[in-house]
Amino acid sequence: MFGGDVLAVLTIRKLPDPILRQKAKRIRHIDKGLLKLAGDMIETMHDANGVGLAGNQVGILQQIAVIQLTDEDEPLILINPEITRREGERHVEEGCLSIPGYRGLVRRSLKVKLRALDKKGKLLRIEGEELLAQAFEHETDHLNGKLYIDHLVSRDKLWKIPPDSVG
Ligand code: NI
Repeated sequence: MFGGDVLAVLTIRKLPDPILRQKAKRIRHIDKGLLKLAGDMIETMHDANGVGLAGNQVGILQQIAVIQLTDEDEPLILINPEITRREGERHVEEGCLSIPGYRGLVRRSLKVKLRALDKKGKLLRIEGEELLAQAFEHETDHLNGKLYIDHLVSRDKLWKIPPDSVG
């Protein structure tokens, strides 16, 4: 899928790195370099046992994110993703590879609709529920400089977890 390039595990930026609070730029051209980046992001997400990763988190301020909820799923590459509709609300636990050692209880939508381009530049419209909706909101937030700690149900709903556990 990535033309035989050797994939790299990238460094994941962590708080308080200011890039996590910056807005990523819209992508105008999907080229070989971007596809290599997508492959490296998928490799990095797998290496860190995460279910999603956004450009900011690997030091790239471009609107690209990858999501893969289970080993059986194909990784999703989302370019210029936007949430176009949100429905309902639930409280759910969440963590982030950029905030290791913590988890929190956040407000998320029950269902969202997402619009993005795929790696060929084709328009995707995907409806997600539960964990997929949560991942869509979490990753598009990253690209807008937002983090899950901005959506805590209350300020005390953030707790420490053992350092080796997956966020
Ligand atoms: Ni995250």
